[in-house]
Amino acid sequence: MKTVITNPFVTGGYAGPEYFCDRENETKRLADAIESRRNLTLISLRRMGKTGLLRHLKHRIEESGKPCAVVYTDLLPTMNCNEMLNAVSTALFRVRQKEKNFMEKMFGLMGSLRPRLSIDPLTGEPAVELTVETTTDISTGLDSIMRLISEIKRDIVFMFDEFQQIARYPEKNTEAILRTVIQTYPVIPFIFSGSSKHMLENMFMSAGSPFYQSSELIYLERIPENDYAEFIKSHFQKAGREIDDDSLLKIFRWTRLHTWYIQYVCNIIYEQGYRNTGADEVNRAFHRIMTDFEPQYINYRNLLSSHQFRLLIAVAAEDGVDQPTAGGFISRYGLTSPSSVAASLKSLTDREMVVQDQGKWQVYDVFFSRWLQYHYSGG
Ligand SMILES: Nc1ncnc2c1ncn2[C@@H]1O[C@H](COP(=O)(O)OP(=O)(O)O)[C@@H](O)[C@H]1O
Ligand SMILES: [Mg+2]
Repeated sequence: MKTVITNPFVTGGYAGPEYFCDRENETKRLADAIESRRNLTLISLRRMGKTGLLRHLKHRIEESGKPCAVVYTDLLPTMNCNEMLNAVSTALFRVRQKEKNFMEKMFGLMGSLRPRLSIDPLTGEPAVELTVETTTDISTGLDSIMRLISEIKRDIVFMFDEFQQIARYPEKNTEAILRTVIQTYPVIPFIFSGSSKHMLENMFMSAGSPFYQSSELIYLERIPENDYAEFIKSHFQKAGREIDDDSLLKIFRWTRLHTWYIQYVCNIIYEQGYRNTGADEVNRAFHRIMTDFEPQYINYRNLLSSHQFRLLIAVAAEDGVDQPTAGGFISRYGLTSPSSVAASLKSLTDREMVVQDQGKWQVYDVFFSRWLQYHYSGG
């Protein structure tokens, strides 16, 4: 399916290499690992570009004409083992559905899990649903999937996106079962990816956990400013438009060079159709974004305690804080005591409202952070 693009700054999904900025080194590292059948784990903040990179890599592999099948599964929406198995079976089914009698074979092998086929009403894509009731069912399901996969007469790579999700399932032994099954097929490379640094490091770096040292970890950093600047300029130029270097710098500062936020700002500016973009046009875009999202931010304010909200304002005002429990910071913003700050910080971390980024605590959502600054500390 060829996507028709009217705005080159994509803010959701993957629209092909023309709309994808850089990530050359990372794509190569992943491709090399697959070639050498090593496992890799990609870690970054949300919205930095992990899923985009995986889809870019998948696209590259499929375009190259190499005989390699990519089985991509997003675990983010899954809440338990049954849903994980459904997601993986569906991914596998979509890769092999064109083969003769594949469905009969798959459903035969998984018969005890009562497989059913449904069609996604929105995309028209097939989906597989299984019934998992016991731990044995989980092993049976996974084992059938791996057996069907290893039959593929091509190289295979398995991608598990938002993999830390499995540590949240109510079934406590999922990691161990999955690891055991995966180990039986050492020739299949696995690419894991996820946004929870802490959970993924626990899974892959703490001795005694089933996935200990089974994968190399890569931290997906920000795209370098120069590469992003070139990418943005070239898309403006293609439409006969200009954006100056100061404006680009301003955008990079304001968005903390965080991929999705840059894409979003550029999308809004591009949509306006200005011939020349300078400081005024950029400011207008910032203002519009803060206004558009405002109802959501007001809603956050209503959901948080007043202390938590004051802490967010303080973190945003400083544009990141090294030591939020330090005396100076607490007295500057009237935050009561180190222990109350620690408690609020914990609760805001659990809700993913704040995060540690490059050694500083930040309000996780960059636009929200800018809105807080704008409204509560004079910009
Ligand atoms: N290299 C890139 N160039 C352009 N846009 C990108 C790039 N990487 C990601 N994006 C865009 O940024 C958004 C967030 O990226 P995504 O891959 O979903 O982040 P993550 O999986 O890390 O949460 C996506 O909507 C995607 O369109
Ligand atoms: Mg993602």
